[in-house]
Amino acid sequence: MVPTSERVVSLVPCAGSKGPAQGIPALLAAMDAEHREVLESVAALAVVPPTRFASAYAALVAQIEAGFREEEEMMDQIGYGEIRAHRRDHAELLALLHRLRPYLDDGNAPLADIVMGMIPAMLVRHMAGMDQALALALRMQGTGSGKR
Ligand SMILES: [Fe+2]
Repeated sequence: MVPTSERVVSLVPCAGSKGPAQGIPALLAAMDAEHREVLESVAALAVVPPTRFASAYAALVAQIEAGFREEEEMMDQIGYGEIRAHRRDHAELLALLHRLRPYLDDGNAPLADIVMGMIPAMLVRHMAGMDQALALALRMQGTGSGKR
């Protein structure tokens, strides 16, 4: 099952939430948009012709890497207490994604099928767990109840 934009974990604060600090809603919106774009790219990868799969995969990995970097900057900005564990998960995901590249560059079609099966699950697990916790910390920071 490939995630669609309807299944993206929303990180944007609720409309009725009270007075988040300036900048936090923009960070949450940026993270939400980044998640949506990555999952849309994953869905697009499913229909890429086999001859273009490796290059599309490389572009997706670069997109994921850029998103992780932005999140890590957010974590630095708010002094996020779980930054090490979150960074470790980013590093492990990227290490796996990069390890597959040479095989995909060689046109390994069965591996491309495996990749398409595992990437959505890997990303959704991370987004629904670690990124959701980061979003909560950002919201708490925005309401002044977060601790550094
Ligand atoms: Fe993350």
